[in-house]
Amino acid sequence: MTAFPHANAFPAGFQFGAATSAYQIEGAATADGRGPSWWDTFAHTPGRIRDASTGDVACDHYHRWAQDLDLMQALKLQAYRFSIAWPRVLPEGRGRLNPTGLDFYERLVDGLLARGITPYATLYHWDLPQQLADAGGWQARETADAFAEFAVQAMRRLGDRVARWATLNEPRCSAYVGHLEGRHAPGLTDLRATLAAAHHLLLAHGRAVQAMRAERADASVGIVLDVKPYTPAAPGPEHEAAVRCGDGVFNRWFLDPLFKGRYPGDIAADYSSYLPPIHDGDFALISQPIDHLGINYYTRGHVLHAPEVRYPHAAEQRVPGAHYSTMEWEDWPEGLHAMLTRLHRDYAPKAIYVAENGAAEPDVVSADGRCRDEARVNYLAGHLSACARAVAEGVPLDAYLAWSFMDNFEWGRGYTQRFGLVHVDYETQLRTPKDSALAYRDFIGDFIAGHRK
Ligand code: FCB
Repeated sequence: MTAFPHANAFPAGFQFGAATSAYQIEGAATADGRGPSWWDTFAHTPGRIRDASTGDVACDHYHRWAQDLDLMQALKLQAYRFSIAWPRVLPEGRGRLNPTGLDFYERLVDGLLARGITPYATLYHWDLPQQLADAGGWQARETADAFAEFAVQAMRRLGDRVARWATLNEPRCSAYVGHLEGRHAPGLTDLRATLAAAHHLLLAHGRAVQAMRAERADASVGIVLDVKPYTPAAPGPEHEAAVRCGDGVFNRWFLDPLFKGRYPGDIAADYSSYLPPIHDGDFALISQPIDHLGINYYTRGHVLHAPEVRYPHAAEQRVPGAHYSTMEWEDWPEGLHAMLTRLHRDYAPKAIYVAENGAAEPDVVSADGRCRDEARVNYLAGHLSACARAVAEGVPLDAYLAWSFMDNFEWGRGYTQRFGLVHVDYETQLRTPKDSALAYRDFIGDFIAGHRK
């Protein structure tokens, strides 16, 4: 077992918490004027979700939010990252405001503050209103304008209380998994659509940052990216090239425009005949300064060059002896340290936080009521240690949020993957903190006590 780092390895002001997203936990899909999103449509399409489930009920958090916040407080969480469902706020995507939708997030934010928990809000965690999907979704440039309008509404209502805003969660996943791999809404397998979506998502981020700052000059705004280090599974220049290319597509395609105002030249050359029109000023908008970068880190890509697989021709290999989660993801904390130091060196965001990090395991609650999730305790200890090392080396890392606060709807895999610190029984909606939640609580308790002295 990996030991937890010493709580004093983190400076005062560092925050430990957990994350969720709206469609994955809220349920109440038609309550209080919520409109449909393309995830409702996708989940209700036969064959799309592994266990044929949907987010219609999920963890019923929309109705159980108060007790969920009580549990967060009991677990000593200092920060909570949630997302705001666009179709609750603007049921048709743009135009008519549904104030009742914002009321829910206002109750949530006030409830967090009342319990001493810092609210981190994400605006887009994949639930695009269906009417905007019908009008072209992220392949349509205008969707970026609609997103900025939504961002302003959220900022207007909650900007005085939300500590940290993220525009988008994982634009890479939205673009590639939704438009090239076909595993997420809208379920396409088209490179041109993928690159158009990626560009318009980045543009949406830029427009939203601008509009949110115009609404509130002191707003703290950034973006959350999924990052994944690539390593070669064998020596040789072709495998090195697969690593560079895999990294280019997964990481640099989003980091470079945001922090350097351009697409990475090597990948852009390979993609040249598939790119959407790029207008003058797009990159200036996309690369305007942000206050922080959130990263979602889960695993690495350990790859071999494989010409027969789709570009970037990198085939993932299993590492003998390593622990793999039920997602088939390798537990590799070194990669989090490597990514944090690299981001600091190559992109120098003002502040970095871990917005998601966690593992799905085959958790069961025993007859004695305990959920012994040793593998997740180990994962948590290893990744917190990686964070501690990065902090010691000067990376401006200031928060760590575990994915996820509780088990939830894991997109195309439905309810088959349990990522929670808290176990959810979907029949009864009973919440049971797993051993990892208790270990995390004790770690946070030591951290708080250490800085009180
Ligand atoms: C990330 C998503 C999050 C969750 C985890 C496991 O890509 O942001 O919603 O599905 O993966």
